[in-house]
Formats: sequence, C-alpha cells, structure tokens
Amino acid sequence: MDHSKRIAERYVLRAVLGEGGMGTVYEGHDELLERDVAVKQVRIPADIDQAERPRLRARVLREARAAARLNHPCATTVHDVVDEADGVYIVMELASGRTLAEVVAEQGPIDVARAASIGLALVDALQAAHEQGIVHRDVKPSNVILSPTGETKLTDFGIATLQDEQAVTTSGSVIGSPSFMAPEQAQGASSQPATDLWGLGATLYCALEGTAPFDRGRATATLTAVVQEQTPVARHAGALEPLLHQLLDKDPAKRPGIRETRRALEVARDPAGTVDSATVPVATVLPDEAPPDAVNVQRAPVAGAPEAPKPSRRPQPVTPTLVRRVERVGRFTVKLGLVLLLLGVLAVTALVALVSSLL
Ligand SMILES: Nc1ncnc2c1ncn2[C@@H]1O[C@H](COP(=O)(O)OP(=O)(O)OP(=O)(O)O)[C@@H](O)[C@H]1O
Ligand SMILES: [Mg+2]
Repeated sequence: MDHSKRIAERYVLRAVLGEGGMGTVYEGHDELLERDVAVKQVRIPADIDQAERPRLRARVLREARAAARLNHPCATTVHDVVDEADGVYIVMELASGRTLAEVVAEQGPIDVARAASIGLALVDALQAAHEQGIVHRDVKPSNVILSPTGETKLTDFGIATLQDEQAVTTSGSVIGSPSFMAPEQAQGASSQPATDLWGLGATLYCALEGTAPFDRGRATATLTAVVQEQTPVARHAGALEPLLHQLLDKDPAKRPGIRETRRALEVARDPAGTVDSATVPVATVLPDEAPPDAVNVQRAPVAGAPEAPKPSRRPQPVTPTLVRRVERVGRFTVKLGLVLLLLGVLAVTALVALVSSLL
C-alpha cells in the first residue's frame, strides 16, 4: 500500500487494518482534528455492470451520509464520507480491540452470559439506528469490535447497501457474507429492521457455537440452506437457545422485536433473577409450556446438498412466557447450587464429628 496516501487533503492512510468483501479498512489520521480514525475504501465489485456503477456509488454515498447521523456509544461513529476518483471512503471512529470473529476463531466459543452482554450492546445500537430509519444490513461477528476494557461496538452501519441492491451479481458472485445473510436478503428482497435481528441471532449463534448456523462452505449452498433449512439447535446457548431460534425465523414478521430481545438477553445475562420481569406486559401465554431441556436436540447436517425443510419445532415466541421460562432455568440453577452447598456442609460436619469421636 501507498503509506503516504492522503484523501480530502486531511486524512492520511497509514496501514491496512483489514480487508473484507466490500473494501479495505485503513488505520488513518485526521490531520485537521489531529485524531486517529479508521477509513474504509468501499469497492464496488468489478463484475457489476458499468452502466450501474454510478448509481451504486451514489447509493453508497447516500447511505453512508445517513449512517453519519447515528451517534451511539455501541456503534462506531461515521465522521465523514469522501468521494474520490478511486472510490468512496468512509471515515469513521477507530475502535480498539479485536472483532468477535477473531476472538471466536482464536479462543473458541464464548459463554452465555458474555454473549448476552454483547447482544445487549448490539441491541442498543440497533434500536438507536432503527429509530432513525437506519438498517445495518450486515450484523455479523466481523462487524462487532470488542475492546480490551469490555466495550462492544457495532461497525459498518449502512455500508452493506450493495448487498441490498444485488445479493448475487450477474456473474454469480455473492456480495456480502452468505453465512450471516437473512433469508429475505438471500432472496433479493430489501432489508428491514427485522433483518438486523436475524443478523443478531446468527452472530450470537456463531459466538456460542463456533460456527454460523447455515454455513455450508460454498456461497450458493449456504444461501440455499439459509432460505430452506430448519435452524439447527444451538446446543451451547443454554437459556439463550429459545431466543436464537426465534431470531432465526425465516419469516421476518415472526422474529421478536428489539424490546423482547433485550428482555430475554437481560435475563440470560443475569440468571439469578435480579432483573424485574414485572414491567413486561403479558402478550401471549402458551398453553403447554415445555421446559427448554425437553426440546429435541437435533443438528442439521453440516455439509452436502440442501435437504427439504423439516417440520419446525413448536414456535416459542419471545414473550413474557419465554422470559419467565428463561428465569425459571436460572432460579433452578441457583436453588440446585444452594442444595449442593448445604449437602457439602452437612457432609463435612458429619466427617468432623466422626473423626473427633474416633479420637
Ligand atoms: N472502525 C473500525 N475500527 C477499527 N478496526 C476496524 C474498523 N472497521 C473495521 N475494522 C477492522 O478491519 C477489518 C476489515 O473490515 P471490513 O469491514 O473490511 O471486513 P469484514 O467486516 O470482514 O467484511 P465486510 O466487508 O463484508 O464488512 C475488520 O475485521 C476489523 O479488524
Ligand atoms: Mg466490516
């Protein structure tokens, strides 16, 4: 790379931070404000029609400008958008730390409480965005940056706009990450707020299981699985499993909203029950509640041709019922711990009494 590259007569691009499907991210420096920044050069895929390119470029600029309105501690702020001859550059807050994708790749899956607290930060960022009419479109582990001090930041707001235009190009290449695309994106429909809730579900699934829910290796096989196959059970998701199942509903209208999602995440992060569920209005109460462990654990095949969709499990809406169910699992765990502790104390007392009677 050209280390002396300067854009808009103020941003110096110093080093490549990483490269994704949509462009290259540089560590840069804003000479005017004297602060470090991240700069993403958005690349319009080479096989997109020449006649289409100016319109797509205009769309990238428009969406990036819209994303710049968002100012939230859990989202990297877009500071500036630069339209240069060699591409559109998005200047944003430089987040310190590593992506969730890197953490999972290096250290393996994370635990339920940590996943829940990352999920809560993402939900906060998404809520602020959706309230301003901004849809992220590309919520995935490589767009989640975890700082060494425990903060979570969602990056790349509004950048996946090309994916909405044309998920699959005329020459058959896929724009974006098929493993984290929602079924509506894979089928060419435009993104909506519920699309981000799918992305959140797929991201948390990957963080807990170590792999994306529908990853089949090849892009087309993965997209087919996203659209057609039953969601595999997240076996390590514990109290979060019912929520993940709901977030990964093929039908965007059936996915839980931000509010219900936040509630279920709070309960999973704090299973001891200090979260007050009395504030949640009663919506739907399922007549036949089965405990989460009664769910038939069955994994979808990891490779090969997509199968016909299998009958889905009984739907479990993320409602106060689900929240109570998650809480019950938490309370049961706490009670079991107390009983085991009491038994331990009794055993030690009996042993001491026995030893002293022998002496
Ligand atoms: N705002 C930022 N601050 C610091 N590092 C960043 C920032 N944005 C991106 N990065 C780094 O740059 C890398 C590449 O990001 P990029 O968005 O190009 O790739 P991606 O998210 O893997 O794919 P995609 O292009 O599909 O979004 C990320 O993995 C991350 O390490
Ligand atoms: Mg990215």
